[in-house]
Amino acid sequence: MNIAFVASEVVPFAKTGGLADVSGSLPIELTKLGHNVKVFMPKYYSVDEKRFKLKHESWIGIIPVRVENKAHNVNIFKGLLDDSKTEIYFIDYPPFFHRHLLYTNDLDEDERFILFSKAVIELLQRLSWEANIIHLNDWQSALVPLLIKDNYSWDKYFDKIASVFTIHNIAYQGNFPKETYKKAEIAPKYFEAPGEIEHQGRVNFMKAGISFADIITTVSEKYAEELLTPEFSFGMDTILKYRKDDFYGILNGIDETVWSPEVDTYITQKYSSKTIDDKEKNKIELLKMFSMPYNINTPVIGIVSRLATQKGFDLFLNSIDYLLSLDVQWVILGSGEYEYEKQLKEIAVNNPEKFSISLGYSNELSHLITAGADMFLMPSHFEPCGLTQMYSLKYGTVPIVRNTGGLADTVFDWDAQIYDNKKDGTGFSFNDYNGYALTNAIERAVSYFHNKEIWKQIQQNGMKTSFAWQVSAKKYVSIYSKALAKK
Ligand code: ADP
Ligand code: GLC
Repeated sequence: MNIAFVASEVVPFAKTGGLADVSGSLPIELTKLGHNVKVFMPKYYSVDEKRFKLKHESWIGIIPVRVENKAHNVNIFKGLLDDSKTEIYFIDYPPFFHRHLLYTNDLDEDERFILFSKAVIELLQRLSWEANIIHLNDWQSALVPLLIKDNYSWDKYFDKIASVFTIHNIAYQGNFPKETYKKAEIAPKYFEAPGEIEHQGRVNFMKAGISFADIITTVSEKYAEELLTPEFSFGMDTILKYRKDDFYGILNGIDETVWSPEVDTYITQKYSSKTIDDKEKNKIELLKMFSMPYNINTPVIGIVSRLATQKGFDLFLNSIDYLLSLDVQWVILGSGEYEYEKQLKEIAVNNPEKFSISLGYSNELSHLITAGADMFLMPSHFEPCGLTQMYSLKYGTVPIVRNTGGLADTVFDWDAQIYDNKKDGTGFSFNDYNGYALTNAIERAVSYFHNKEIWKQIQQNGMKTSFAWQVSAKKYVSIYSKALAKK
């Protein structure tokens, strides 16, 4: 199959979260399965031409892309994803994409991603390549199926191409004023009743993707179920229920060539499930780095996260006094909302031996925390998939998670499994979003930490779990076939 994979962030070129990890791995895995994949993303300021050995595709020429009756001159660059054979095309338009952040609150945020989406379509028209599938990801490319149906309906090239739209996080919808449909030059009928792109009087890119893609997927089976309920859908449950027969959950994989304690070059001491005692050297190094005292019997709990309400920081901070009374040390890496940064910093200043925070983004440190901590906390309010709990499992760093979305699909509570006469638990989880449930899960984990035999079993159960992309990539291929069958 020929697959056009469209995403607004891709590792190693630009990343704000898990979407970039997925977009940097899944296309490579699809290529390994024998498919021809081309990836498309914006050329942000961080996409360094020299470092990534990109080539200006001058033969394509300048592509004039219309947004609000005005043509914007777009250039195309090309590179390779990793050292694989997967090609990646960059949409270059500096006035829109050379900004301080990938996503902004600027007034032309809608125009930035209308331009991106239209540029991908225009580029496909010029590549002399018969795409079978266009795979869109999140709101930033969600307009593509509608633009093809409306603005580009004249072009037979798209008649046989099926579209798949993956929801990585429904909380971010690309929600803009009514005028946005005019900027995209979309026919008014799509905004007016029944309003496939209208939500609460505004243009909603996410809703457009759900309405017009041939198949919709999301990143775990549990989140797919949750999205059909008002509690989790941020207003999209009605349209998703309408598309229920075309809606699937496929769990993300992880790049086990990067996220494995056996090969990780960022950590102090490599180890495997057989040499798990070596993991301790990473804990010692981690605590040294944060100038915290080391005690073999005091568990270290790590967090690596965007500091956003989604991730459960309100819950965590509400329980902090009690958590600080436990014999536990905390190492946190994160960046995000100012209020959370401020409060976490204050706690660290007041509890230097117990609580450390590194504000900002550091790939290297995220690896060391994953290897050096004994446990990893994700008390998410909701979690479409979550990658960091899967990384932790592979490193024998026992996850403590709220039982939601992808966390529920990947972490199996030790006590609940024992209750079912099974010894295959991999972590600790809690259901209710309250301080009691959170602290109870942490205390259960801490108490098992002191039983070395059981603890090792929990660690090794996690390390044995496979999250290889190959399994998920095959599921995407079967979804692509289903989408093609609809054409
Ligand atoms: P989300 O996409 O919702 O942020 P995921 O768990 O899917 O959550 O993916 C988060 C990705 O971002 C992981 O690769 C994680 O290691 C990384 N990450 C998050 N915060 C930081 C940070 N401050 N420094 C380095 N990596 C981070
Ligand atoms: C989103 C979700 C996260 C998921 C990631 C990759 O950012 O918040 O749970 O793992 O996308 O699909």
